[in-house]
Amino acid sequence: EQIEKGGYEHFMLKEIFEQPKSIHDTMRGRLIVEEGVIKMAGIWDHVEKFKNANRIIIIACGTSWHAGLIGEYLIEEYARIPVEVEYASEFRYRNPIITDKDVVIAISQSGETADTMAALKLAKERGAFIYGICNVVDSSIARITDAGSYTHAGPEIGVASTKAFTAQLTILTLIAFKLGKHNGNLGNAEFMSLIAELEAIPKKVEEVLSATHELTQDIAKNFVKATNFLYLGRGYNYPAALEGALKLKEISYIHAEGYPAAEMKHGPIALIDENMPIVIIAPKKGHYDKIVSNVQEIKARKGKVIAVVNKGDRQVSEMADYVIEIPETSECFSPIIASVPLQLLAYYIAVYRGANVDQPRNLAKSVTVE
Ligand code: G6P
Repeated sequence: EQIEKGGYEHFMLKEIFEQPKSIHDTMRGRLIVEEGVIKMAGIWDHVEKFKNANRIIIIACGTSWHAGLIGEYLIEEYARIPVEVEYASEFRYRNPIITDKDVVIAISQSGETADTMAALKLAKERGAFIYGICNVVDSSIARITDAGSYTHAGPEIGVASTKAFTAQLTILTLIAFKLGKHNGNLGNAEFMSLIAELEAIPKKVEEVLSATHELTQDIAKNFVKATNFLYLGRGYNYPAALEGALKLKEISYIHAEGYPAAEMKHGPIALIDENMPIVIIAPKKGHYDKIVSNVQEIKARKGKVIAVVNKGDRQVSEMADYVIEIPETSECFSPIIASVPLQLLAYYIAVYRGANVDQPRNLAKSVTVE
């Protein structure tokens, strides 16, 4: 097992550090920047289904559901196809309205999650075209779907999903750009600049890993005794906030909630005092001015702010108690980049609390029963 961990203390840390490679592997053979194309047979063979779809419904559980939420932002923005995102367990039991004009995408690392599988079967029975985004090759979900795209993240051992999540975001980004280009919603110049930026994402993830590895350890030391955490973000980074909170609760057993930053005033603000740590994702391109006022509101109540900002940021950084800098990107890529230090932060808080990070209590890597 020590050999499999490749010198890392836990699989989770190894997998966090594998992300430059796993994101790259997920794009390999698909993203060909010099030719200005995205090759994805699963999409291309059925492109008319997507183009003519009334809507796309994404179904998933856990971390994969968070990836789905970001997929909604991506596909609606770039391909202009309406998207709904559903928990598989809710979808399957609420007698959903589905027609043969719907495309249902299931996202699942394992490809074995019982609720996701059952939801897909229901969608198929009702005539939808079903598409899979799985990491495990030849898994049950991969086999029942009409078509799909594998994430090539490699085996993920840590129960808390890390590299599978960023690989799912990579696939969803490719799908959104490919469909957008095909149906004419994404012009050639913008497409070319986005795909060039996407190609450079593994490099940026690498930079973030080295720039934030020690920093997140230092920050984590201050929160070993915390009992609650809030994670806030807007736009693309609202689901990133949900995922950051999920990582922390899964492995450290600290209660953590993710929220869209603007919803803070409808509830969570009542919880803020000097004992409440708040992680706020505030890149420049992502409603920055609104986030600045959210941070002001938090500081007026003495909350402890851990801010994820772009390099050279001033306004939020001056108010924050702890600052984590990430490189600037187009907004659609920021959840990939911002997730990395949040994974590290959750990991180190859990390690300092003596938790079993790779196998947290009560959780399973793959939930194959209801
Ligand atoms: C479990 C795992 C999570 C995962 C979720 C969905 O809860 O612990 O890490 O996100 O299942 O799994 P899937 O394999 O369908 O992505």
